[in-house]
Amino acid sequence: MKIPNHVAIILDGNGRWAKSKGMPRNYGHIQGAKNLEVIIEEAHNIGIRYLTVYAFSTENWSRPKEEVDALMKLLRNYMKTCLKTASKNRMSVRVIGDKSALDEDIQKRIEELERATKDYEGIHLQIAINYGGRDEIKRSVQKIAKKVADGILKVEDISEKLISNELDTCQIPDPDLLIRTCNELRISNFLLWQLAYAELYFTEVAWPDFTKDELKKALEAYHTRKRKFGAIEEE
Ligand code: IPE
Ligand code: IPE
Ligand code: MG
Repeated sequence: MKIPNHVAIILDGNGRWAKSKGMPRNYGHIQGAKNLEVIIEEAHNIGIRYLTVYAFSTENWSRPKEEVDALMKLLRNYMKTCLKTASKNRMSVRVIGDKSALDEDIQKRIEELERATKDYEGIHLQIAINYGGRDEIKRSVQKIAKKVADGILKVEDISEKLISNELDTCQIPDPDLLIRTCNELRISNFLLWQLAYAELYFTEVAWPDFTKDELKKALEAYHTRKRKFGAIEEE
């Protein structure tokens, strides 16, 4: 089977999943975080090289304070768990997004995790926290504009490759497959630049119910896709 090199996931539906069980939204987030562990391990076993997951968007700050606090607490704990699972799966971890807005202790844990795992070659996990595709592009434009203003770079030198290299995902190949759970058919500001030619897969299953078998279904769908990049198909 054709395995995508890079899978990106918008893990959506934690809140609705919890509500359907008469439980608070945060219960859904807790189960969602547990499920992430299962899916990372399975992705690694299947041979997916890069996995990027959307954990908290730049827009998610507009949720009620209690929910934002609960999500930050989960992320804080997740960084610790991740440090353990990373050595098991020989997984390198990178956090993408604007980390400067996060609490200092979370930033510290992220740095620790990234440093401890940077040489692992098993699977490369990117966690998007305080991430927005537009914000990422804005920050990259600011970095490039500063280089031009400082005389380090000429306007004519600005290429697609140079822009890619200024994004949080620099050196990471673009996703081949985007999965979004829980029946929402949009991108919600995720990896706007990088998803240019990704295959899209949407499922009605909410993230906490997205099992290993659901991942396999997504990969089977990907396998049947004929990828095109704008050229004419060869017979
Ligand atoms: C996804 O689940 C997790 C985050 C966005 C943090 P949601 O919290 O968006 O769940 P729904 O979409 O409201 O059900
Ligand atoms: C996208 O989900 C963000 C994450 C999964 C972290 P949302 O639930 O926040 O997106 P919308 O509001 O449905 O577009
Ligand atoms: Mg949602």
